[in-house]
Amino acid sequence: MPLVTSKEMFEKAYKGGYAIGAFNVNNMEIIQGITEAAAELKAPLILQVSKGARAYANRTYLMKLVEAAVIETGLPICLHLDHGDSFEICKSCIDDGFTSVMIDASSKPFAENIALTRQVVEYAHDHGVVVEAELGTLAGIEDEVKVSAEDSSYTRPEEVEEFVEKTGCDSLAIAIGTSHGAYKFKPGTKPQLRFDVLEEVEKRLPEFPIVLHGSSSVPQEFVEKINKYGGNMPGAIGVPEDQLRKAASMAVCKINIDSDLRLAMTASIREHFALYPADFDPRQYLKPARAAIKAMVAHKIVDVLGCDGKAF
Ligand code: G3H
Ligand code: 13P
Ligand code: ZN
Repeated sequence: MPLVTSKEMFEKAYKGGYAIGAFNVNNMEIIQGITEAAAELKAPLILQVSKGARAYANRTYLMKLVEAAVIETGLPICLHLDHGDSFEICKSCIDDGFTSVMIDASSKPFAENIALTRQVVEYAHDHGVVVEAELGTLAGIEDEVKVSAEDSSYTRPEEVEEFVEKTGCDSLAIAIGTSHGAYKFKPGTKPQLRFDVLEEVEKRLPEFPIVLHGSSSVPQEFVEKINKYGGNMPGAIGVPEDQLRKAASMAVCKINIDSDLRLAMTASIREHFALYPADFDPRQYLKPARAAIKAMVAHKIVDVLGCDGKAF
């Protein structure tokens, strides 16, 4: 099966009350860990590549690794550009064979966000590619763009109909309290997503797929392991998984996870070197790291996203 767009995945997910996991990929072991879990669980999958990932791994290598995963697993996989910040990077990914792109013009004024998103949609749709856009600003770090918690703003539901109508985008990322990275909420506070905003968006955009960025749950077992083996991550807190599950049962069809992959991998590698300090064979520490990613992704698919068995 060739790479697919997310159109059919989202239609089924919306109706079925589940979400598709969109996992960020940067190298072979990450791609293998994610796709092995999805294949075993027959889960539809979105693999997403950021500008930073393209710069790190080289766009051709990433494309070929994803193509290898498609051949190995036979899964419906959508290859998506995460946080495209210009028409040029979206065009480049579309020309490379991506089946989905995100144009993130959410930090621009409303009219400029509409104009740039529209430009990307026109090029993408001419090439059979779908487009995710964003309204509202998440706190955290997206490539070089840093947004402080005070500057982040929830999506304004009264803007979504006009935005979707004028841009023609295929899905919409909204800000309801999630943020990028491992430090999402102040220690001692109770994390709570703004389901009232999601409900209002859902009412105004019936059957339209909504996307949640910044959706790592930062499992404390990884943080504890990292800290046990020489790390220092005090106060790392993520989005509670029960709230993600609730969002998946609503209009949210795509849930973005990157930090949890990083945490799973780093915890495993730190543990490995604590146990085997003389080791210097990358296969010896990357193999358990890949297995840790696979286990974490399998857990997300079954217990959070609910998309196991939905691939075909
Ligand atoms: O939202 C951002 C993703 O976690 C990608 O991160 O830009 O460091 O690759 P990155
Ligand atoms: P996390 O940092 O919560 O994993 O979010 C990833 C993301 O939104 C990628 O676009
Ligand atoms: Zn994001």
